[in-house]
Amino acid sequence: MSEFEAEIDHLRSVTLIVKDLTESIDFYTKTWGLHVVDQGEHMVQLRARGEEHHVLELRQGSEIGLHSISWGTPSLEHLKRMCERISSLGVVISSEPHELKEHSGGFGFSFLDPEGRVHNVVSGSQKYSPLHIESLVDGACPTKLSHVVVNTLDVAKMSHFLQSVLGFKLSDSTHKMHFFRCNANHHSIALADFGSVSLNHVAFEMGSWNELMFGVGRVKLAGYELQWGLGRHGPGDNIFSYFLDPNGLVVEYTAEVQQITNPSWVPGSPDQWARPPERMDQWGFSPQPSDVIKKAMGGQLGLSGKIAA
Ligand SMILES: [Fe+2]
Repeated sequence: MSEFEAEIDHLRSVTLIVKDLTESIDFYTKTWGLHVVDQGEHMVQLRARGEEHHVLELRQGSEIGLHSISWGTPSLEHLKRMCERISSLGVVISSEPHELKEHSGGFGFSFLDPEGRVHNVVSGSQKYSPLHIESLVDGACPTKLSHVVVNTLDVAKMSHFLQSVLGFKLSDSTHKMHFFRCNANHHSIALADFGSVSLNHVAFEMGSWNELMFGVGRVKLAGYELQWGLGRHGPGDNIFSYFLDPNGLVVEYTAEVQQITNPSWVPGSPDQWARPPERMDQWGFSPQPSDVIKKAMGGQLGLSGKIAA
């Protein structure tokens, strides 16, 4: 465990590159339940029901995938201290602390992890009141970004970086997955030992299992096949449901994520979490993940999850 006070205290947002921005905006607003807060010629920022200015940014590009992950710190002092601290440890600072020009405001800097992913750290950005929503979709909007899972080629190096450099804590490990927290949420980021440096999936938290069910129903009725779920994961104890968005990115509705408040928490080991393949979730209810989502989670992005009309 790290011996310093970690500066990052929450996951803010992810930025994804999509080939078809128009179709993505249509999906994430009309079907997924997010709301546009800022839009440019080649980008859009979308908020959830919670206070964060945006939880998802989409950028038009030629390659589908993860552009960056954005983290929050409690104060500008935390942000500056973190930048100095990790810089002294040899971390590549790709953007020095500066006032952000985007509408959400605040202060930020960016760094690269050992596998070259871009991470943004932000403090003081604009927050919304949860009541400031103009249109709820079935009352079943995501409340916030829950977690991002990335595939890695070097679990040991990335795990060490998250814990010893950034100050995350290991919550649980399975043979293929390693879950890390920066607050009470069981995991805000997880590493998947899937043999590539790529995006595995992005999860959005729903306010309750009932809202999750309304959301899943809405996505299915819009023509998107439920690729994995419904079930309740072992590590994290969260309810899960996975879909492919129009660009083939894997997105999840989740709910009831385990909260770890015990400072003496001992991470579960791969042997403790081992289970037979026919029992992929605690309930024994979920079918196996579809072949297409297994490929997409492994980094083969761009596959279609929409059922042909
Ligand atoms: Fe997940």
